[in-house]
Amino acid sequence: IKVNFLPAELSREVDLAVVVDVLRATSTIVTALHAGASRVVPVETVEEAFAMKQREPWVLLAGESGGHMIPGFDLGNSPLDFKEKLVRGREIVMKTTNGTSAALHSKGARKIVAASFLNLARVIEEIKKESGSVVIQCAGSGGAFSMEDVLLAGAAASAFEDRLLDDASRAAVFLFRSAKLPLDQFLIDNCDHAKKLFSIGYFEDVVFCAKINMYDLLPVWRENGFVRG
Ligand code: MLT
Repeated sequence: IKVNFLPAELSREVDLAVVVDVLRATSTIVTALHAGASRVVPVETVEEAFAMKQREPWVLLAGESGGHMIPGFDLGNSPLDFKEKLVRGREIVMKTTNGTSAALHSKGARKIVAASFLNLARVIEEIKKESGSVVIQCAGSGGAFSMEDVLLAGAAASAFEDRLLDDASRAAVFLFRSAKLPLDQFLIDNCDHAKKLFSIGYFEDVVFCAKINMYDLLPVWRENGFVRG
């Protein structure tokens, strides 16, 4: 099991890519599918999202820029906005700052899943089933290290024997084991993006994204987006 702390383009040599953007894209993808969305399609640009809506007017556009909802979109990137009555049966086209491109850059891998604390147990189960190579791909922030993503990578990697880990995954395990619980408080105290979300009024999102094993659900990539695995 390898952990990429920074964004990378994954190739066919990777059997399983585990994409992580704890705050908030992958937490939101898990929540959207749990609320009944049929598919979450990540896109690179806002223009691409609007073009999809023009072709397929039934889709919902979701995402953020600077943490806030994008004008003209139907939803932001707050997992708490993805209520069943809004998203059940709907396809969601999503554009976020880092998380959606981390997913798209993982497309070379044989299988791609989305991971968050909300579905940690399912992620570990999926890695256990994989006999080939596994990369936990952290989305980071603007090309830089994001501690909350590495914490999640460590939480997942800590379920495996040392001989299966590389130095980066061991470092992630050390970090996770040294984090003081409760996790939401740890994120607010130590992670830049949690502090930013807190400062712009999304404190509840940080608390929610720090919940462990809320959902028994694994988003799996099929064709152009994540569906319930
Ligand atoms: C991202 O993709 O960078 C994040 O999901 C941003 C956020 O909505 O907090």
